Amino acid sequence: MPEIEEIGGGLSRLERIGAHSHIRGLGLNPDMTAKDVGDGLVGQKRAREAAGLVVQMAREGRLSGKAVLLAGPPGTGKTAVAVGIARELGEDVPFIQISGAEVYSAERKKTEVLTEAMRKAIGVRLREVKKVYEGEVTKLDIKMGSSPLNPFVRTPQSAEIELKTEEESKKLRVGPRVAQQLADQGVAEGDVIMIDAETGRVSRMGRAEGAAGFDVSGSKVVPRPTGAVLKDREFVYTMTLDDLDQMVASRRGGALFSLFFGAPPEREIDPEVRAAVDKQVKEWVEEKRGEIIPGVLFIDDVHLMDIEALSFLSRAMEGELVPIIVMATNRGVTKIRGTDLTAPFGMPLDLLDRLVVITTEKYSPEEIDQIIRIRAREEDVKLEDGAVRALRELGAERSLRYATQILSIAGVRARAGGREAVTEEDVRVVAEKFSDLKGAVEHLKRYEREMLE
Ligand SMILES: Nc1ncnc2c1ncn2[C@@H]1O[C@H](COP(=O)(O)OP(=O)(O)OP(=O)(O)O)[C@@H](O)[C@H]1O
Ligand SMILES: [Mg+2]
Repeated sequence: MPEIEEIGGGLSRLERIGAHSHIRGLGLNPDMTAKDVGDGLVGQKRAREAAGLVVQMAREGRLSGKAVLLAGPPGTGKTAVAVGIARELGEDVPFIQISGAEVYSAERKKTEVLTEAMRKAIGVRLREVKKVYEGEVTKLDIKMGSSPLNPFVRTPQSAEIELKTEEESKKLRVGPRVAQQLADQGVAEGDVIMIDAETGRVSRMGRAEGAAGFDVSGSKVVPRPTGAVLKDREFVYTMTLDDLDQMVASRRGGALFSLFFGAPPEREIDPEVRAAVDKQVKEWVEEKRGEIIPGVLFIDDVHLMDIEALSFLSRAMEGELVPIIVMATNRGVTKIRGTDLTAPFGMPLDLLDRLVVITTEKYSPEEIDQIIRIRAREEDVKLEDGAVRALRELGAERSLRYATQILSIAGVRARAGGREAVTEEDVRVVAEKFSDLKGAVEHLKRYEREMLE
C-alpha cells in the first residue's frame, strides 16, 4: 500500500531563494489596492495590484490556459512579485518555480521537463471515506514470539486491544503487522489511536484527555472520540497530478524489479501513465470525490527557452488540465531562441496571443533606499547612512539585484572587521572587488577584442 503523503503546498523550493525571503505577500489592502509598503514589498504598485488579480483568478480557477508575463528591466522586482503571488496563494494552491534554463537537461527532453512542471502545478483534492477503528486504548496486550525469519529474535506476533469511545468499547485481536506498528509507535494505554480497517495502518493521535497513567512522551492531548469504535471517516488529501503520475508509474514499472536490480526511479513518465491518471482524476471529479485546484507555474527568465520549448508550452496550454502560467523576462524585442526571427520578448506568435502582460518600472531613489533597508533587516545587518547612500547609487546605476548582493557581502566584511554597522567604505571596497553582470561581460569583451587584434 503506497503511503499517501500530504504535500505542504509548493513552497518548499522557494525557501532556498534567500534573495526574496523578506517577501510575505503582495502587500494589498482588502480592496485590492497596494499599500506603499506591505508584506516586504515597496512601490511597484501597479504590478502588485495586477498580481493580486491573478491570485484572485487563480483561487477561483478562472485563469487556466492563460499566461501572465511580468516584463521589465533587470532588478525591478519581477521575481519578487512572483514570490509575492506564491505567498498569497497559500498552502493549498500549488506554486512551482522553474527557470527558463532548467528545460535544458542532459537526461530529459525539454517537453518532459515542462510537462512535469505543469503537472506539479495542478493539485487534486481527494475525499475518501474509510472505515476505521478509533478510540482510547484501555487495554493493550502485545504477544511476542520468535521471528519467522530469525528464531533468536522476538517480534510482536499478535495483540489484543480494547478501544473505548465516550459511548462504546470494543475488543479487537490484531495480527503481526498491526501489532508491530503498535509496538513501534510505542502505543500505550491512555493513547487515542486510529486503525484503518482495510489496511491495518495505525495512527497514534495523542493522549486521551484525562487519561490515567503517566505519559513520558509529552504528546498532545486529544479528546476521547465519540460514537461507535468502528466508523466511517472522511479523509482529505491534496496531491498533485505529478504525485499521482509517480505513484502509478512506480506501481506499473515493476516495483519488484527495481527492488531486486536497483533500477533508478524512472526519469521519464510514460504518456500512457499520464493518460490513465488524467482519466482517473476526471472520474473522481465527476463522482464528486475529487476537485481540481489549478496552481501556478512560474517560469522565470523565460527568454532562456527556445522555440521548441515555447511552442510546446503554448500548445500545452490548450489542454484541459493546465495551471496558470506566470512568466518573467527582462528582454524586449529580441530573437526567438533557436530561430533567426525577432519578436516581442523573443516569443512566437501563438504564445504572444495568450499573454496578459504586467510591466514593472524602475525604482525611484527613495524606493531603492527602502528596499535596501528591508534587505538589511532581513540579513540582520546594520547600515550607516553613508552605506545606504552608496548602495542606493549602486542600485540606481547598476541594478537593484547587484546592490542587494553587495549589501550582503559588505555585511560579511563589516563583521570580519568587528564593526557593528556596515560603513560606506565596506560597500565601496566590496563593490570594487565584485563586478556586476554587465561589467563582467564588458571586461571579457575587451579581452576578446584584444585577442582578435
Ligand atoms: N518592490 C520591491 N520590494 C522589496 N524588494 C524588492 C522589490 N523589488 C525587488 N526587490 C528585491 O530586490 C532584488 C532584485 O529584484 P528581483 O530579483 O525581483 O528583480 P527581477 O526584476 O526579477 O530582475 P531580473 O530581470 O534580473 O531577474 C531581490 O532581492 C528582490 O527581492
Ligand atoms: Mg528575476
